[in-house]
Amino acid sequence: MLTFRSISALTKYLDKFSDSEAKIGFVPTMGSLHEGHISLVDKSIRKSTITVVSIFLNPTQFNDFKDLKEYPVDHNADFRTLKVYDDQLILFTPEIKEIYGNNVKTKKFSFSGLDKYMEGSSRGNHFNGVITVVERLFEIVKPDYAFFGEKDFQQLRIIELFVKDRSLSIKIIRCKTKRSCDGLALSSRNKKLNNSSKKIASNLYKALRFARDNFNSLEISEIISNIEKKFQKISGISLEYFLIADESKLHPTNRKSKGIKYRAFIAAKINNIRLIDNINLN
Ligand code: PAJ
Repeated sequence: MLTFRSISALTKYLDKFSDSEAKIGFVPTMGSLHEGHISLVDKSIRKSTITVVSIFLNPTQFNDFKDLKEYPVDHNADFRTLKVYDDQLILFTPEIKEIYGNNVKTKKFSFSGLDKYMEGSSRGNHFNGVITVVERLFEIVKPDYAFFGEKDFQQLRIIELFVKDRSLSIKIIRCKTKRSCDGLALSSRNKKLNNSSKKIASNLYKALRFARDNFNSLEISEIISNIEKKFQKISGISLEYFLIADESKLHPTNRKSKGIKYRAFIAAKINNIRLIDNINLN
């Protein structure tokens, strides 16, 4: 595994793969890697000639400085995890200055309403920050394929829209959510949960499964009120939102229409650790 910290060294190396036959796969991450990230890496390695994994804790997508400061970081463990991939993989770990220069600024984008609800309304400028860095990383790596997890489904949809709007020749590959055996979606933030909090956190997946299992038999409003009531009774967890939206426009709805794909989305806090998850319903 080769590691690059500077853009110039990385792009010089990647020039080797600029012929039309070679395919560059790209997996952007913020580090603190887990099996979810690794499933993206494995998929990229299977599909691409060379895979670039970036580890960059992007400051502009955190609207809360405390959240950024407390984000788990473990460069040594990440390095050990990726080392096994040998020469199929390039690790890119730029400093903030390399990506943003002296001006850490969030660009503004238009997301056609995809950012209106859920993480968009809960986390202010979050998606502008995500796309600011993703745009920059795409310019540097110039991938043929870029791999993103359904775990962050709203992010995935916004990136798909961004690539389409800009007519970029990058294929966005959707990757399924990896979960632990009790259903909890793997997340870097889980490292902050102790065992009893992890147990409580499995209620997010239980709620999503309830929605999926009852999607045909119950009204959406019944599913939502059932889950809201359940969460009121569980101590140690505070539900921020539970809603059902169509997969394409991500507009929350109480009505099911034929031919439309729906997803349930949830965000909750346990001991001040904020977790999100989602599941397809039909
Ligand atoms: P990060 O949270 O590190 O996630 C990197 C990628 O891993 C994202 O595409 C995310 O959806 C995916 N991922 C996370 N948990 C997963 C799981 N349990 N199963 C499958 N995939 C999972 O998302 C970001 O970083 C950042 O916003 C980024 C896109 C890198 C921009 O800074």
